[in-house]
Amino acid sequence: MNVLVIGSGGREHALVWKLRQSPQVERLFCAPGNAGIARQATLVPIKAADIGGLAAFAEREKIDLTVVGPEQPLVTGIVDEFRRRGLAIFGPTQYAAQLEGSKVFAKDFLTRYSVPTARFGAFTAEQEAEAVRFAESLVPPVVVKADGLAAGKGVLICGSRGEAIEGIRSMLRGGFGDAGRRVVVEEFLTGEEASIFVLTDGERFATLAPAQDHKRILDGDLGKNTGGMGAYAPAPVVTSALLTRVTREIIRPTLDGMRQDGYPYTGCLYVGLMITESGPKVLEFNCRFGDPEAQVVIPLIDADLAAVLMAVAQGRLDPATVRQHPASAVCVVMASQGYPDDYPTGREILGLDRPAVDDGVVVFHAGTKEEGGRVVTAGGRVLGVTAVGYGHDLEGTIRTAYGAVRQITFDGAYFRSDIGARALHHLTRNGR
Ligand code: AMP
Ligand code: GLY
Repeated sequence: MNVLVIGSGGREHALVWKLRQSPQVERLFCAPGNAGIARQATLVPIKAADIGGLAAFAEREKIDLTVVGPEQPLVTGIVDEFRRRGLAIFGPTQYAAQLEGSKVFAKDFLTRYSVPTARFGAFTAEQEAEAVRFAESLVPPVVVKADGLAAGKGVLICGSRGEAIEGIRSMLRGGFGDAGRRVVVEEFLTGEEASIFVLTDGERFATLAPAQDHKRILDGDLGKNTGGMGAYAPAPVVTSALLTRVTREIIRPTLDGMRQDGYPYTGCLYVGLMITESGPKVLEFNCRFGDPEAQVVIPLIDADLAAVLMAVAQGRLDPATVRQHPASAVCVVMASQGYPDDYPTGREILGLDRPAVDDGVVVFHAGTKEEGGRVVTAGGRVLGVTAVGYGHDLEGTIRTAYGAVRQITFDGAYFRSDIGARALHHLTRNGR
């Protein structure tokens, strides 16, 4: 089987790393990839947004399966284009990808199928006065969201009604580009967040190990939001009873609803949950694997990933084949000093091969590139240092991950020192 992975981050490195282990995979390509991915796949210099270029490449190289990492090409219809050309591809259609691409679409859908989510109102630029009135009716904090893709910057958590009104005005008046032409205003949910990935062929589905991301830049979940500074799985906050409830109240009605609407959802559905006192509620859907969560969830899959993703793409998934290792995984993101604001690039990374594979450590590359035989930093999030603990508990896995982080150096390397701490807290509280 010839496989093409689209994207260039830690998520795509995790996909490539796992696909490389499949005996079925002959040639493996990644467009555009990074320095770490280059060790396991042939890099193709085509951007993820160049749908025509990617489809032409897949035809020319006789690619049997294409796996899409990031949301952008999905939201702009890469799956529809590949299918039109008779090419197998893993991901949702453009219509189905609106579950991530449009917050208004997602909230309307959730309401129609009675899936639990935060109480909300959706407004266009002409409805600014109504939006403001609705925001005034909520008890702060109030959440204001731009409708479209905004690269993680489209959500404002407003501490006061005044701040919410300011946010609504700035979004609707074009401050957030096209993404903000419509807004969702919603109540603030309290609880703990978790991410659940569902692999589905539109009808049958398998859920992967629940994960938790660490979105803030500083320890203790303080400071600015980032793309994610680390993750671990399985997240003990998602007990098996809770997962049963999420399946019944959220996953099934969502997949059934999409099918009923005539647009079955295929690929990976990322369910972003808030576990509130009154039960799990949908914070957001994403139409792809999350990053960095993919870097812990994918290594925990005990199956031939190429076979599973192909079955999804061909509409014949057998959920029983998607087994999980009884293990835990922890990913610590090493970022460039200054991220998520401006940061330098081009700093040489040393020690990449020091962490021992035998200890269950995999160093996934995110923002790296090769320059004259050296690997240098090329992004905000540089590496996802991941440990998979088969034999020991989460605490041991966290220790292994941090041991590996300390063996890798680059000028200005920054990482959080408390990845997984919340899980330990849960486990201690439950006396395990
Ligand atoms: P979204 O892109 O919709 O997932 O929002 C990004 C992040 O904002 C989420 O992961 C939450 O941390 C936070 N968030 C979004 N909506 C809410 C809400 N209704 N209540 C509390 N936090 C929220
Ligand atoms: N880790 C959050 C995301 O991928 O959207």
